[in-house]
Amino acid sequence: CRVRHYKFNVVMKNSTKLCSSKPIVTVNGKFPGPTLYAREHDTVLVKVVNHVKYNVTIHWHGVRQLRTGWADGPAYITQCPIQSGHSYVYNFTITGQRGTLLWHAHILWLRATVHGAIVILPKRGVPYPFPKPHKEVVVVLAEWWKSDTEAVINQALRSGLAPNVSDSHTINGQPGPISSCSSQGGFTLPVDSGKTYMLRIINAALNEELFFKIAGHKLTVVEVDATYVKPFKTDTIVIAPGQTTNVLLSADKTSGKYLVAASPFMDAPIAVDNATATATLHYSGTLASSATTLTSTPPKNGTAIANKFIDSLRSLNSKKYPAKVPQTVDHNLLFTVGLGVNPCPSCKAGNGSRVVASINNVTFVMPTIALLQAHFFNISGVFTTDFPGNPPHTYNFTGTPKNLQTSNGTKAYRLAYNSTVQLILQDTGIIAPENHPVHLHGFNFFAVGKGLGNFNPKKDPKKFNLVDPVERNTIGVPSGGWVAIRFSADNPGVWFMHCHLEVHTTWGLKMAFLVDNGKGPNESLLPPPSDLPKC
Ligand code: C2O
Repeated sequence: CRVRHYKFNVVMKNSTKLCSSKPIVTVNGKFPGPTLYAREHDTVLVKVVNHVKYNVTIHWHGVRQLRTGWADGPAYITQCPIQSGHSYVYNFTITGQRGTLLWHAHILWLRATVHGAIVILPKRGVPYPFPKPHKEVVVVLAEWWKSDTEAVINQALRSGLAPNVSDSHTINGQPGPISSCSSQGGFTLPVDSGKTYMLRIINAALNEELFFKIAGHKLTVVEVDATYVKPFKTDTIVIAPGQTTNVLLSADKTSGKYLVAASPFMDAPIAVDNATATATLHYSGTLASSATTLTSTPPKNGTAIANKFIDSLRSLNSKKYPAKVPQTVDHNLLFTVGLGVNPCPSCKAGNGSRVVASINNVTFVMPTIALLQAHFFNISGVFTTDFPGNPPHTYNFTGTPKNLQTSNGTKAYRLAYNSTVQLILQDTGIIAPENHPVHLHGFNFFAVGKGLGNFNPKKDPKKFNLVDPVERNTIGVPSGGWVAIRFSADNPGVWFMHCHLEVHTTWGLKMAFLVDNGKGPNESLLPPPSDLPKC
């Protein structure tokens, strides 16, 4: 294993898209930002230097951070932010993971433009469990607003309404050839006929789940969220913000140009009409002037297409890569996730918004000292550990709205070191049922069950897949339904869990788990590095 050094300069940069320009916050002047490469078991040191007016943190989304919670990155959860003119070195080791992940800013809405790929290669000499592709290509999907994204969310919080949807999606930083302003040709993926390519697809969008398709080509899914899956073929993938998907693309045509499309998926009665992003798959030898073969995109409420894809995902569960699904459960939890109404719109706690979001009726209030610091140094008064393990009211999740009001609090749920957790995430549908992609920091989990309507604790667990469920770090809680996940609390520290739709995070759909230290020598959180930013 090696030590890899990176320097991330957070700088402003002017960017022109959709025929209009604005300054954006970037890493090293790039959008998307630089790809971070490592091998399994490498140690990575990233020096982040903040040259902008905003406070900044970077999160290594999906990196396990075993015992290194100080390097996880969510602002006021594991660290105080890096202030303007200051720097911080994120120091972590990649343990037992290989595949594609992403890094992104974890404060305000900065991740709109501050994000990039993490590519973790297997250990030297260890092959992929599928034929080696001719080439690998990172494909970062994102969103673009013509106006400043901090202004977009601030305006929404002032008005108490939902923020404006983005003006376009992007593929590797570009809206593409089919957009309202197509002066920029878009991303081109050059291929040679007869060769196989691996696309490392990342959804770095703020608020949008996406469908991804390539005209005339099937995709073989081999990995999600840096875990291998049983390969299967599909013509459409669905990917939520924070999720990653590796697919093999075999260039089985002799020539031509084929459209690549990323279009929104939103199975909720909410207006989403921002534009599909496009790119071009270009066979070598094809004239630039030749016509592109187009593809239809799924309807934005294409739930059946999304479900077909999601239900096809299974852990590879081979001898070499077994699915270590917890077979017993110490903590049996049910958390509701959803949107509610602020009991006190003039109170700061609910972000001053009319709409608030909550988990088990608690709208998370950001502290002013990082939870992990408060935990490690025994600073009292920052948070409490009385986060409810079950909903405080009886809900009819899919029926008439009840209990619209939420309570405010900075609460964590305490887990004993190495205990096993089963967590049902139940969509409340109180304002509107919506697919919430929930992300857990510090752990991978197994998605053992999923259903529509209300979770039935008597019947549903009998149908759980405890053999080869997909393992991941971000999962969509279906609209008006539930998912069941299992994980082992083997990572001491404070770990954020939240909806990865940034607007819902802003409204309070977030909480934290506190995992105690174990008794063994390698079972405790390490002390913080000396350059840990101060609040
Ligand atoms: Cu990718 Cu807490 O985020």
